[in-house]
Amino acid sequence: MNIRLLAGVSCAACVCAIGAWLVQSPAALAQEKKAEAKSWVEFTADGKAKQPVGYRKWVYIGTPLTPNDMNDGEAAFPEFHNVYMDPDSFAHVEKTGEYRDGTVLVKELVSVGSKEQTSGKGYFQGDFIGLEVSVKDSKRFPNEPGNWAYFSFGHKYPLKAEAPLTATASCNSCHEKNATNFVFSDVYPVLGSVLKAKK
Ligand code: HEC
Repeated sequence: MNIRLLAGVSCAACVCAIGAWLVQSPAALAQEKKAEAKSWVEFTADGKAKQPVGYRKWVYIGTPLTPNDMNDGEAAFPEFHNVYMDPDSFAHVEKTGEYRDGTVLVKELVSVGSKEQTSGKGYFQGDFIGLEVSVKDSKRFPNEPGNWAYFSFGHKYPLKAEAPLTATASCNSCHEKNATNFVFSDVYPVLGSVLKAKK
C-alpha cells in the first residue's frame, strides 16, 4: 500500500468514525436520559420499593406539621413532614398541571428538636425520624386507585432499606377520598402555587 492510499483509507475510516459518533450520540444521550428519569425510585425483583437516594436535593414542596404534643403524644405521622417531588415530575406539573406517570413524592418525617430559639417560642426541626413514599405508575400498579402506590420505610431509624406495597385501605383510600388527585397539594405552597398558575 502506498502512502497516499494509506492516508486515504485512514481518512475515510476517520470520517466514518465521526459519522458514527454523530449518528449515535443523540440516541445514546436520549437513552442515558431515559435511564436517569427512570431511576428516581427503584424496585426489587419481588416488587418492593428501594429507599430513594438523593431526594433531599429534589424539589422541596412544603412541610405540614402534626406535632405529637397536639395529637395525644403520638401523631399518626409524627412531627414535621418535609415533602419533595422528583424534578422531572415537578417540571411536568409546571408544564401541564398534571402528575405524570412516574411521579415520586417523598415525605420525610423530622422530630421537633426544640421549642425555643432566639427568634421566639415555636416548633423547630430536630432529627430525621421516618420516611414515606408515594409513586404513580400505571404499568407497575394498574390495580391501585389512580395508579398511586404507597410505601413506608418506617417511623424510626434505622429505616428499612426496602418497603413492600401497602394495602390500598391503609394509605391509598384516605388519599383518594380526601386529597385532590391523591396529593394534598393544598398544604404544599410550592406545588400549590404552580398548580394554581395552570388553572
Ligand atoms: C387518614 C388519612 C391518611 C392516611 C391513612 C395516610 N395518609 Fe398520607 N397524607 C395524609 C395527609 C392529610 C397528608 C398531607 C398532610 C400531612 O402530611 O400531614 C399526607 C401526605 C402524604 C405524602 C406526601 C404526598 C401527598 O400525597 O400529599 C405521602 C408520601 C404519604 N402521605 C404517604 C402515606 C403512606 C405511605 C400511608 C400509609 C402508611 C399514608 N400516607 C396514609 C393523609 C393520610
